[in-house]
Amino acid sequence: MAVWINGELIPDSEARISVFDHGLVVGDGAFETVKVRHGTPFALTRHLNRLAATAAGLGLPAPDLDHIRAGALAVIEAGPQQALGRLRITLTGGIGPLGSERAGAGLTAIVALAEQRPAAEWADVAIVPWTRNEHGALSGLKTTSYAENVRALAHAAAQGANEAIFANTAGNLCEGTGSNVFLLAGGRLVTPPLESGCLAGVTRALVLDWAGADEHDVPVTALAEAEEAFLTSTTRDVQPIRRVNGATLAAVPGPFTRKVAEVFALRSAESPDP
Ligand SMILES: Cc1ncc(COP(=O)(O)O)c(C=O)c1O
Repeated sequence: MAVWINGELIPDSEARISVFDHGLVVGDGAFETVKVRHGTPFALTRHLNRLAATAAGLGLPAPDLDHIRAGALAVIEAGPQQALGRLRITLTGGIGPLGSERAGAGLTAIVALAEQRPAAEWADVAIVPWTRNEHGALSGLKTTSYAENVRALAHAAAQGANEAIFANTAGNLCEGTGSNVFLLAGGRLVTPPLESGCLAGVTRALVLDWAGADEHDVPVTALAEAEEAFLTSTTRDVQPIRRVNGATLAAVPGPFTRKVAEVFALRSAESPDP
């Protein structure tokens, strides 16, 4: 498998990152996961733009997106060709000291590709006891500091769930460890606004454009009471939620979820870079 590091396409067995890389030392970096279907990346422009937004939010220099796009395409081209792949773009603060200050010695940019298994038919979610901090410096950024998500997902898995859901500090619904959340309440589709602290998901934005939903805060407790609900993400597309904290929702998948999933599948098949 070929990977791309700072402009060089090399076999993954030869890839080397410094032990002083700030991404490794303190999680100082941005990343993107891009879906690749039969050799075509989906929504690459949106992902690259979000990578730049995360870098800006971290105070890192602006990445050269044309360069990284070329790296992404080179890795896909090098193959192997898969029905479904997961392209990972990582951008770190580069080599730095063994602390939080930066050396400003240039960014590390990496692209790698792995096979992606199709998503499970349902999501069983568990609401975790830790909150997203919608007021934090990294709120809404896709940074490589993801250990909080790792911890939450393991907590959810221990309860038989396959996604963990966070409330924010106000007790409102925020997002999953790698997904955004939509629910049907009072006959309306609702998703938390970006001010809740959730990531501006690419899939979330496309669902809003293609299917429509209201963006407003709901208490996290509304999820278990929803008529139907679903997750969105690059690896899940539109995935119905079956259980919340072990209790099965009324409609799985409900008619709204089914319709949104259909519209998303159709529109995303028509336009590879919407
Ligand atoms: C924390 C978080 N929220 C939401 C999402 C969904 O975003 P996207 O639809 O761009 O994959 C992700 C993506 O993995 C994520 O990491």
